Amino acid sequence: MDVDEAIRRRRTHKFFAGGAVPEATLRELVELARWAPNHEYTEPWRFLIVRHERLPAMQTAVLASLDSIAQAGTPEMMRKLAQKREKLIKRLAGTGAVVVVTCARSPDDPSRDREDFAASACATQNLLLAATARGLCALWSTGGVLLTEAMRSFYGARGDEHIVGVLFIGTPATELEGKRYKGVDDVIAWV
Ligand SMILES: Cc1cc2nc3c(=O)[nH]c(=O)nc-3n(C[C@H](O)[C@H](O)[C@H](O)COP(=O)(O)O)c2cc1C
Repeated sequence: MDVDEAIRRRRTHKFFAGGAVPEATLRELVELARWAPNHEYTEPWRFLIVRHERLPAMQTAVLASLDSIAQAGTPEMMRKLAQKREKLIKRLAGTGAVVVVTCARSPDDPSRDREDFAASACATQNLLLAATARGLCALWSTGGVLLTEAMRSFYGARGDEHIVGVLFIGTPATELEGKRYKGVDDVIAWV
């Protein structure tokens, strides 16, 4: 698959068909991710990989995290919470592996912090495109339930790291159509 095709075919999948993503494949994805541009070779990223066999433990952790942030309340709120639980359980049941992309924080240097975060987002896209080219798909999630202190501790994210994304990776369960609401001429200004 060439680059244009991988860019066009990559889609956000929220549910997966099941099966593990082999460790060798995950290593290839990270190897490609780290070729992203990064100013002054800071290489600010780390990739915390939750192996397939650790996903049941992740499910336990994420449901506990959901319970800790959920407000018990109206029947409507409780119904939404139950739906979210079901969604997380279904998602993790089909996921092949999870990769958490982190970025070193630079609290004393806002410019470096911004550049490094941008570079880590590029590394994330590299990883997603490499996954697409291998017939895999992913969800880049930043949902609050995945970013609690308890979840950071589960992944092994350090206090001096941002979490750029929690990437659920797996085999596609369906084909998805891409959509964009703006045309190319809507987003170009010729100077
Ligand atoms: C920084 C970032 C954070 C995202 N966080 C979430 C998320 O928390 N939950 C989610 O369902 N999708 C999330 N997405 C996926 C976007 O919703 C998705 O990319 C968008 O719907 C476009 O679909 P496409 O990726 O198939 O083109 C995120 C994407 C990015 C780039």
